[in-house]
Amino acid sequence: MASLTHTLGIRHPIVCAPMAGVAGGRLAHAVSAAGGLGMIGARGSATSEWIAEQAALAGEGGTPFGIGLMAWVPQLSTQLDAVLALPDHLRPALVSVSFGDLAAPTGRLREAGLRTACQVGNAADLDAALGAGADVIVARGGEGGGHGRDEVGARAMLDLALSATDTPVLAAGGIATAEDVARALAVGAAGVWCGTAFLTCREGDNSPQARAALIGAVATRYSRVHDVAQGIAWPREFGGRAVATPFVEEWAGAEETMTPEAKAEHAAGRDRADTDYTPLYAGVGVGRLGAETDAASVVAALAGRG
Ligand SMILES: Cc1cc2nc3c(=O)[nH]c(=O)nc-3n(C[C@H](O)[C@H](O)[C@H](O)COP(=O)(O)O)c2cc1C
Repeated sequence: MASLTHTLGIRHPIVCAPMAGVAGGRLAHAVSAAGGLGMIGARGSATSEWIAEQAALAGEGGTPFGIGLMAWVPQLSTQLDAVLALPDHLRPALVSVSFGDLAAPTGRLREAGLRTACQVGNAADLDAALGAGADVIVARGGEGGGHGRDEVGARAMLDLALSATDTPVLAAGGIATAEDVARALAVGAAGVWCGTAFLTCREGDNSPQARAALIGAVATRYSRVHDVAQGIAWPREFGGRAVATPFVEEWAGAEETMTPEAKAEHAAGRDRADTDYTPLYAGVGVGRLGAETDAASVVAALAGRG
């Protein structure tokens, strides 16, 4: 079997995860130019125009890139249309669909000859992804940043996936150093899928204030606080791991009782770009983030060439 790096046309088995609000075309391009694979993270509200624009940025000069979509969003079908309508020279090397019904979107992408990935966070997700025919499985542990499950740890999820299939498996959740990458590869992962490690890259779409807050952050918390506060209709089973700000700590576990006053406080905080309220999604690797950096340095560090 050809290695994943060969199949995807990349030098290092390092994928920068799709991260809505952070990983646009610029970050994806920079990661891929440095030898990894950069994924564009589409928000639920991402339009066809946005997808086409970001793909043009990511794929400039023939650089490979990927796109990550969320399976539960009502706009999924339009977003899939937009991905499938990209011109040949901007054809993504990998398209991920995660968090929701995987079979139909994965089937559509595969029929069009695109290579697909699904993030899985428990045994049932793994069965669903394999049943859908995903070309790449992303075994995502609860340590990971952003949305997903908090049921199975990264190492256990990786072992589960590796023992269930010969399909290439990428390790995800809390991977922050070259040693973490080496450990994942040593047990049989085809590569790694990292989000948090790239959160302080200048090429990202997050604000300098958000990056500074991430650099100073130590603890994270898995909850539905930001989604409930903002009225975002994520399925209940998928919470999100974010920096443990006082507001998150106050409402984690009590989301259903969040008062209108608390929601207004959250909205006002976001409006004034107060990072105590900005959803700073990040995994347990957040404590490893140093100064602002760039994608080439992060790829080199993860590849052990830093
Ligand atoms: C800020 C942020 C945004 C994310 N957005 C998405 C997304 O849009 N789509 C997606 O499939 N996964 C998303 N994720 C999850 C990542 O794909 C991945 O599972 C996670 O970052 C891996 O764990 P790590 O952050 O510890 O490296 C996001 C993660 C973060 C940190």
